[in-house]
Amino acid sequence: MKSFRKLGKNLGVLAVASLVFAGLLALVPLSTSRAGQKGNEAKGKFYFKQTCKSCHIKGEKGGEVTPLNKTQAQWQSYFAKGKHMKGTEPLTKYMTPEQLNDALTFLYNHAVDSPQPETCGK
Ligand code: HEC
Repeated sequence: MKSFRKLGKNLGVLAVASLVFAGLLALVPLSTSRAGQKGNEAKGKFYFKQTCKSCHIKGEKGGEVTPLNKTQAQWQSYFAKGKHMKGTEPLTKYMTPEQLNDALTFLYNHAVDSPQPETCGK
């Protein structure tokens, strides 16, 4: 009888431990996806140059915008808000959400605090 109770207790501990473990496993993909951007950088660079750069070079109405304008965190929150022109219009006016994600990936990967800071290659 006594050993049965002990077994039960051990199983309980095991169950809790495996729940904790499963919880940790579930957190792993979340934290890696937050660490970087999953879009296509090469496409994003193309979309950015083709579309955004039409207004965002020196002397144009949007002023110069390159990946160096912001930090990685700032680009993420800018695209998460998705508001352009002082919040008056959505960024999706210019691209599909998927294209915006690619553009964000390019900007993020070459942001001012990224391992490879880069202007747009003009
Ligand atoms: C039709 C012209 C036009 C296009 C296309 C355009 N922008 Fe802009 N953008 C502007 C103008 C004008 C402003 C300035 C508004 C202001 O004074 O705040 C601006 C502001 C910005 C800012 C704000 C600068 C800051 O310091 O916060 C960012 C970032 C930006 N645009 C990114 C983009 C991105 C990314 C794209 C492509 C998806 C894009 N823009 C496409 C005209 C444009």
